[in-house]
Amino acid sequence: MKTMVSHNQPQQNIDTRQTETILVIDDSPTNLEVLYATLSDVGYEVLVEMDGFGGIEQALNNPPDLILLDIMMPKINGFEACRKLQSNPITKDIPIIFMTALADTAEKVKAFQMGAVDYITKPFQQEEVIARINVQLKLRRLNIELDQQKQKLEERVTERTAELSQALEELKQTQLQLVQTEKISSLGQMVAGVAHEINNPIGFISTNLYHASQYVRDLIQLIQVYREKFPQPGQEIEEIIESIDLDHISVDLPKLISSMKLGSDQIRGIMQSMRNYSRADGAEKKAVDIHEGIETTLMILQHRLKAQTFRPAIHVVKEYGNFPPVRCYPGQLNQVFMNLIANAIDAIDETIQENNWESDRGKYLTPDTVLTAPLICICTTADKEYVTIQIGDNGKGMDLSVRDQIFNAFYTTKSEGKGTGLGLSISYQIITEKHGGTLECISSPNKGTEFIIQLPFS
Ligand SMILES: Nc1ncnc2c1ncn2[C@@H]1O[C@H](COP(=O)(O)OP(=O)(O)OP(=O)(O)O)[C@@H](O)[C@H]1O
Ligand SMILES: [Mg+2]
Repeated sequence: MKTMVSHNQPQQNIDTRQTETILVIDDSPTNLEVLYATLSDVGYEVLVEMDGFGGIEQALNNPPDLILLDIMMPKINGFEACRKLQSNPITKDIPIIFMTALADTAEKVKAFQMGAVDYITKPFQQEEVIARINVQLKLRRLNIELDQQKQKLEERVTERTAELSQALEELKQTQLQLVQTEKISSLGQMVAGVAHEINNPIGFISTNLYHASQYVRDLIQLIQVYREKFPQPGQEIEEIIESIDLDHISVDLPKLISSMKLGSDQIRGIMQSMRNYSRADGAEKKAVDIHEGIETTLMILQHRLKAQTFRPAIHVVKEYGNFPPVRCYPGQLNQVFMNLIANAIDAIDETIQENNWESDRGKYLTPDTVLTAPLICICTTADKEYVTIQIGDNGKGMDLSVRDQIFNAFYTTKSEGKGTGLGLSISYQIITEKHGGTLECISSPNKGTEFIIQLPFS
């Protein structure tokens, strides 16, 4: 039988949201007519089918909001049709109301067992049919709403969980960055403390050496005058003059004192640069000679650069350009130099400790020689706008999979306790965000690594 679709306007006193579709499956034309008329009158869109197969096909092609299903039908009875509808994902959630004869209690029970939501007894009571259908459709609407709310809620929970785990991740990062900053600042404080403590004694030594050298000169002059005036001082004095080698002392003592002066001046210079190194950066950038920062960093790392039991000293080749001071945060730049040079030393040490040092390693070309020994090259140049600082090493280098991750916070290939994996991510932040510069890395396995910093002059 053809489907009949109602185009009736809903009656005035009846709920007007009824654009819902009801599929009626019944082999009795009389029943179909009654139900069609009743349901159309209250504004439902009604589709009708006279047998189970047609009903299933209709439900699949055009899923209704509710199905009224007769139990007793030829070809395929209502229960069988219900099973088929419920086993198909397209139709399984459509509520089914069975239509059954009043006396048939066993069938009613079976209908519920099959998953029907309700039953209607024949002959139909118009009001009851409408009431039951309304209730079921309302339930269905509420269920759909509930499902939507549930889905929204789940989405919200997933979103919140993602937000929370991101917040946790950020917190972890901030915590570790604080630890790194704290480490660096306590290094700064220690350096400043040591420099301060050494400053006074070295001050005495160099001032006193100044007087000592004058006294020595005077005394030597006096001895010379004595010797000229009294060429024969007697045997005892002559023996002493000979045993102490007075001529040698007279020449050597002034030299000795001036080299002591030189040494103490150097110590004062070192102390001064250590104090500069550790002074905290203010809010304003300062114009500084970046070579000072590099030199002090090298000095602080001197104990790691010199020969170790497992390797010779690391050569540091410097090619410094001649350019005006750069406006920057010197303390932060020193932190970058420290991270890059310490990483270079680590890379060299690891290569040697892993026994991977071939004799022609790196073949670093310096201005006048090819060096195969452990080497760190620091080169600075500048044009009108930028200063470029290259820090290279002939250590183990990196393959692409490592190089792609080195600027990520917490990425490290070092054993636990040895590396936090923060050095380069912090350096990257300092160069790019704080100074508007760039930090790049060129590296290949077994060839070495070069970091290139570019800083704008202003
Ligand atoms: N010069 C280099 N040669 C080879 N590998 C390097 C070099 N510099 C960095 N790396 C690689 O990049 C990784 C990350 O370096 P980063 O400085 O961020 O952390 P780390 O040195 O491991 O730990 P730390 O936080 O103590 O500095 C290193 O673990 C290392 O694998
Ligand atoms: Mg590091």
